[in-house]
Amino acid sequence: MRLLVTGGAGFIGANFVHQTVAERSDVQVTVLDALTYAGNRQSLDPVADRIEFVHGDVADFALVDRLVAGSDAVVHFAAESHNDNSLADPTPFVQTNVMGTFSLLQAVRAHDVRYHHISTDEVYGDLELDDPERFTESTPYNPSSPYSATKASSDLLVRAWARSFGVRATLSNCSNNYGPYQHVEKFIPRQITNLIDGVRPRLYGSGKNVRDWIHVDDHNAAVWTILEKGSLGQTYLIGADGEVDNRTVVGTLLELFGRDADDFDFVTDRPGHDLRYAIDSTRLRTELGWTPQYKDFRSGLEATVRWYRDNESWWRAQKESAEKAYAASESVIG
Ligand code: NAD
Ligand code: DAU
Repeated sequence: MRLLVTGGAGFIGANFVHQTVAERSDVQVTVLDALTYAGNRQSLDPVADRIEFVHGDVADFALVDRLVAGSDAVVHFAAESHNDNSLADPTPFVQTNVMGTFSLLQAVRAHDVRYHHISTDEVYGDLELDDPERFTESTPYNPSSPYSATKASSDLLVRAWARSFGVRATLSNCSNNYGPYQHVEKFIPRQITNLIDGVRPRLYGSGKNVRDWIHVDDHNAAVWTILEKGSLGQTYLIGADGEVDNRTVVGTLLELFGRDADDFDFVTDRPGHDLRYAIDSTRLRTELGWTPQYKDFRSGLEATVRWYRDNESWWRAQKESAEKAYAASESVIG
């Protein structure tokens, strides 16, 4: 299979490429990535001689059309992915997440190429802390941020292209990923690298917000399951029953670093901050037989801490610019 992976130099995409190269010798991988601030060529160093890398923009239709014409399938990870950035400047989110997806859809339609669309649980908005229901494939869309609104828009384009033009597409909406190669702007790597630097972790607002954590390798294994066994036109929610509130995540990290339980700061909350995400992944488990392999969040976190300790040269250059951006909008509130 000739597989085009967009956004393969980003966090989830790079882990997907590693997993694919390690486990599927019959798959030829081409990565298309614009190498924005979030993309890192070094993340693909371990597989550099086993893949083709194309530096380019998913919204560049001529380039995308040529690459798609030479592919059997496309997995579309490329996106602007950080909520805080979307609040500061939504423009690249609309361009990449909406126009980039449109460009890919036109190409897969023209060449009748199988397409898998990577999306997020954030398209469903948020839940109350005590809501007994979790997100399912039939939960109405209700995005809160410019990031999630552009992801929701791209999902709707995919559904329309599948229905109206017969594009052979599947979609997945996953919860929060953690693991190696995640940019230090994101919650878990930010706190780990703060702790390595002897800086106090920073919790937005009350710290009571809940995220449904899944290891990136479990997400990517689910993507392969859907590519191989998913029904065309169908959406699958990916989640590993990993709900934890932010304060507990920071508490566990402080423990792993041997620091006091109250050695963190509360800082200004994110505007429009979603309270809770929670995924019901019954369809994926019962219809396609996927189950997560990482069942112990604490040991997954411990391994992630080890990775950031061992790979400082990968993240050091990002850290200063990420913290400079945070310093401009963030103040300690307690
Ligand atoms: P990331 O920000 O780490 O990586 C995004 C990658 O896309 C980078 O390599 C970047 O260079 C590339 N890119 C950005 N704009 C591009 C463009 N115009 N053309 C080509 N490449 C471009 O993101 P991530 O966390 O790995 O997320 C990957 C996908 O998974 C996104 O679609 C995101 O919405 C989705 N997702 C992420 C999570 C999560 O927890 N991180 C959870 C669910 C879904
Ligand atoms: O749910 C899936 C989504 O998860 C993906 O679609 C997004 O691409 C991904 O970035 C992630 O979005 P979140 O906004 O949930 O992730 P983030 O890492 O930015 O924040 C996780 C939680 O931690 C959130 O409640 C905000 C909080 N937070 C974040 C940072 C950076 C803090 O308390 N302190 C911080 O310093």
